[in-house]
Amino acid sequence: PTREAIDPVRYISNYSSGKQGYAIAAAAVALGAETVLVSGPVDLPIPPGVQLIPVTSAVEMLAASERELPSDIAIFTAAVADWRVAEEKNQKIKKDKSGIPDLKFVENPDILQTIAKRTSKRPTLVIGFAAETENLVENARDKLKKKGCDLIVANDVSKEHGVFGGDKNTVQLVSASGVESWGLLSKQDVAQRLMAQLAAQLTAGKA
Ligand code: PMT
Repeated sequence: PTREAIDPVRYISNYSSGKQGYAIAAAAVALGAETVLVSGPVDLPIPPGVQLIPVTSAVEMLAASERELPSDIAIFTAAVADWRVAEEKNQKIKKDKSGIPDLKFVENPDILQTIAKRTSKRPTLVIGFAAETENLVENARDKLKKKGCDLIVANDVSKEHGVFGGDKNTVQLVSASGVESWGLLSKQDVAQRLMAQLAAQLTAGKA
């Protein structure tokens, strides 16, 4: 069977509830943007007015994101797994006498970096997120450079902040022009402020 034909029995993934990404999609619609949301499996309602493209792997997420180009703004909030198993099995891997399976991994494509470094149809604004547990701004600056995006929204995902799955986020916006700290906000407020700022930037660029 193809990947689409089977439900995964065992899989390796990064955790994310999708709340921050879905809030951003809703905020984009509220500003009148034609909005496409490429999303892994989450347990959230589809925001009204958003076109949802469901995916279950990084490879599918990259392909779907590239198919949607050109676009003015591309925002990457997904917690993409950096690696995937090299060989996907068509049947359940049974627990048997051969012991713990010796899984081999290959690197997943970096979706944000691939889109940000495109020489054709690069979105005008490419925004990444950085989930960090230490050296937040320093790591975000490195990501900004390495991935070639215009802005990194860095969030501290240390356990005590409860960002993963929670309703609040404390973010710092890191760009070539400096660092902006927003303090503790709801994910909706982060989304609305972010989209308002990006819309203003886009309009200023086109003026
Ligand atoms: O979904 P919630 O529960 O609301 O939580 C929100 C969040 C914490 C997941 C979100 O705010 C967030 O920080 N998302 C990015 C998480 C992450 O995986 O960061 P990273 O530092 O590994 O990756 C940096 C950037 O590269 C991200 O924009 C990521 O989408 C992108 N990336 C990473 C790996 C990869 N193979 N492809 C990518 O595009």
